[in-house]
Amino acid sequence: MKLNTTINGMPKNLEIRPDDYLVDVLRANGYLGVRQGCDTGNCGVCTVHLDGKSVLSCVLLAIKAEGHEITTIEGVPQQAATIANFFVEQGADQCGYCTSGTVMNILYMEQLVEDPTEEEIKHFLKGNLCRCTGYASQLRAIQAYFNLRRQQKSEGQVPRGGYEDENRKPESP
Ligand code: FES
Ligand code: FES
Repeated sequence: MKLNTTINGMPKNLEIRPDDYLVDVLRANGYLGVRQGCDTGNCGVCTVHLDGKSVLSCVLLAIKAEGHEITTIEGVPQQAATIANFFVEQGADQCGYCTSGTVMNILYMEQLVEDPTEEEIKHFLKGNLCRCTGYASQLRAIQAYFNLRRQQKSEGQVPRGGYEDENRKPESP
């Protein structure tokens, strides 16, 4: 069967089976930034956005994306690089396997909470497990990222209301 969807701004018509999960379809089509871990909706490494909201692609049937818009880490290169630099600075990127899912959830949090508190950050990211860092360094990195965003916004450098405005670049066909 066919799946008609949009991935990172590009229309896609993909061959899938009815029981395929989204993570498998994305990885089979080259979106390898989407990680695969527990396959049971518990670790968060497979997080992508569906119409701008974080979803766990390992527990979402691919057909559910019919007519919807998927964003993977490959679709948000600028923000991903900015957050990754803070992760490196704070020692929060060790094996790195969890990072792309965590970054996608940080970007989702940013859509909902402009200036999150420490508690709000912990709440949003409680489903993104990391086996290496112990989370304190991640928290410092995320706070540093939001400090930067606050500064940028106060200087009028970035539009309010979404990473899509500044960040999404359609892939090359
Ligand atoms: S692989 Fe999807 S939540 Fe773990
Ligand atoms: S950095 Fe290794 S699992 Fe998070």
